[in-house]
Amino acid sequence: MKELKADQNYWREEITSLLKETDPSDLQAAAMRERRFWFKDEILLRAIIEFSNYCRRNCLYCGLRKDNSRVSRYRMSREEIVSSAVYARSLGYKTMVLQSGEDDAYAIDDLCRIVREVKENADCAVTLSIGERSCEDYLRLKEAGADRYLLKFETSDPRLFRKLKPDSSYEARLQCLKDLKKLGYQVGSGAMVGLPGQDWRNWRILLICWSIAGDIMLMEELELDMIGIGPFIAHSQTPLSGTKNGSVEATLKTIAMTRIVTGNTHLPATTAIGSIDAQGRQKALLHGANVIMSNLTPQQYRAKYEIYPNKICVDEDPVKCAGCVKEIAAAAGCTLNWGDGHSLKGRRGSEECAEKCPDAAG
Ligand code: 5AD
Ligand code: SF4
Ligand code: FES
Repeated sequence: MKELKADQNYWREEITSLLKETDPSDLQAAAMRERRFWFKDEILLRAIIEFSNYCRRNCLYCGLRKDNSRVSRYRMSREEIVSSAVYARSLGYKTMVLQSGEDDAYAIDDLCRIVREVKENADCAVTLSIGERSCEDYLRLKEAGADRYLLKFETSDPRLFRKLKPDSSYEARLQCLKDLKKLGYQVGSGAMVGLPGQDWRNWRILLICWSIAGDIMLMEELELDMIGIGPFIAHSQTPLSGTKNGSVEATLKTIAMTRIVTGNTHLPATTAIGSIDAQGRQKALLHGANVIMSNLTPQQYRAKYEIYPNKICVDEDPVKCAGCVKEIAAAAGCTLNWGDGHSLKGRRGSEECAEKCPDAAG
């Protein structure tokens, strides 16, 4: 096998064949060299607050989809969100990821006020993960102080995207990612591994790898600051009930390959991989991941944010999670970095936001 180096221009065929044929330990070793080069053995910590499980969309894979009437829905108030962030800050977290379904009940003014108050009271980096919105809204949220935005493209195969996200559009989603970038956000995206339909027809392995290679190429093309990669996990209250989960091995190979191709991107050891394998997050850290998230959603809401089944950290309190992530990092030979964990990619200025967002008035 040729030597794997981050500065190489990987073509899709090449990535496909590396994913398909390479001994995983070669990929792992190359990914670990790369991770250590950029981050030494430090793992960045983030706190996630899942503030609403309402969603206007019907993604086929997701337990929070609008048509799942068995979800007990909740929506946190501004005060609850801000106090959760303040609590997380008191435990030492300096990045808050505020995530929800696509919930129209929060008007843009409410969201801006939430961002402003979290910044003022918790003095932390704010990452939003609230779905597709207009460029103007993204601008307002940036001006309110949001630093980062997560919006996964889920799959780079437009045909599969249309099937799995019937009420969304691939083009619109990519446009959102481009808008966010122009506005100066640190942008995160990502994909799921093992989605039903990634393996159409008989050539299962080859086609999964071809599809994932496309995902990795798109991640590189978008020059992302953060990339979340997790296995697909079938949820019984969705149209994909009974389909096969993505595999831990394929997810680890994808994480390793993504590290090799994208260099110093922040790559989390996702909750999803930890949910299908008790050692999953540790293994991800040993395949090039450098970020770990703790769930700081208030206890009474945790179990209700069931995107997929058997999600970890549902019953644990945040103090336990903080101890637990430390152990996971230690087991992977790493220490925790409690800093704000900004992107290592070259930063783009946001001063000309308004100009770059022609729809935004004033
Ligand atoms: N399995 C794994 N990940 C999922 N997500 C949504 N549904 C599932 C599932 N069934 C991920 C998507 C989404 C994020 C919030 O959760 O990548 O962007
Ligand atoms: Fe809503 Fe996101 Fe779930 Fe799709 S994946 S149904 S947009 S919460
Ligand atoms: Fe939450 Fe382990 S990180 S219990």
